[in-house]
Amino acid sequence: MQVNKIVVWEAFDAADPMTRAAGRLYEQTLAADERIPWYWIEKSVESRTKTKPGKADGWTKHLLLAAPEDRADDPAGLAGYVYGALIPNFGGYLCYIGVADWARRLGVGTRLFDQFYRQMSVDSGELGAPLPFVIWESHRPAPAAPAAEWDIWAARTKLFDRAGGLWVEGVDFWSPNFASDDETGDPVPLQLFIKPMNESAGAFDADRLKQVVAGLHSEVYRNEPGSELFERTLPEGCQPRLQPAKLAGLAHKSGK
Ligand SMILES: CC(C)(COP(=O)(O)OP(=O)(O)OC[C@H]1O[C@@H](n2cnc3c(N)ncnc32)[C@H](O)[C@@H]1OP(=O)(O)O)[C@@H](O)C(=O)NCCC(=O)NCCS
Repeated sequence: MQVNKIVVWEAFDAADPMTRAAGRLYEQTLAADERIPWYWIEKSVESRTKTKPGKADGWTKHLLLAAPEDRADDPAGLAGYVYGALIPNFGGYLCYIGVADWARRLGVGTRLFDQFYRQMSVDSGELGAPLPFVIWESHRPAPAAPAAEWDIWAARTKLFDRAGGLWVEGVDFWSPNFASDDETGDPVPLQLFIKPMNESAGAFDADRLKQVVAGLHSEVYRNEPGSELFERTLPEGCQPRLQPAKLAGLAHKSGK
């Protein structure tokens, strides 16, 4: 399929029909236990123009939208979105990405990753701080999951690879289950991916990776050493290492 040039821009108005279309795409493309309620994202869109660098909770959150340049006002033309934040003194954190069915395999996902990296570089520039990496999580299907789920996983990991992401092999990142209001559902094991930015890939040895994983627990989930999910993620003897993202797509084991 031929599409016109894709434009990517930041949403500043939760009531804008394009932002609402992103909400629908978000709920259609991600399983309930993989996502936070959309209205949390709406709230951060609404506060975006009022936050200055280093203020509020310190995170600079962005919802970026993509559409063919002649359809940027057409909700049916929304091609995709990405949502994430710069976490000061840590790195960029890409929370969610989704591409509409009709717009897949056209490079939209890759384009959204790329623009998100640029956004994180701008944010860290605003703070006068380096940007060591951008990190994201993704839920690998259970070994016995239907083939369709494994196909989606393979597509994701190929996209991550195309976007320069590396897989943190050797870590199941145990996160709370957002599908239950009180977060008492079974924790969800996630795989982690890193795009090195100002730090070289070689700098991410096992110790540095453990520090990054610990940082993700404390900065994002408020889990400190000694808490159940933290200790389950980083058991004694854990030796994480970076691998090509595509290799994560092949791993049919885990499911621990
Ligand atoms: C995963 C997803 C974001 C990919 O978006 P996309 O715009 O289609 O990705 P791109 O066009 O940039 O594709 C980049 C590469 O990823 C791989 N890829 C993407 N979709 C694929 C698929 N269905 N099957 C196999 N490989 C696929 C290809 O290698 C592709 O490059 P190529 O087409 O040149 O071979 C999209 O399929 C999606 O929204 N899925 C549902 C939501 C989701 O899984 N989000 C990710 C949560 S972490």
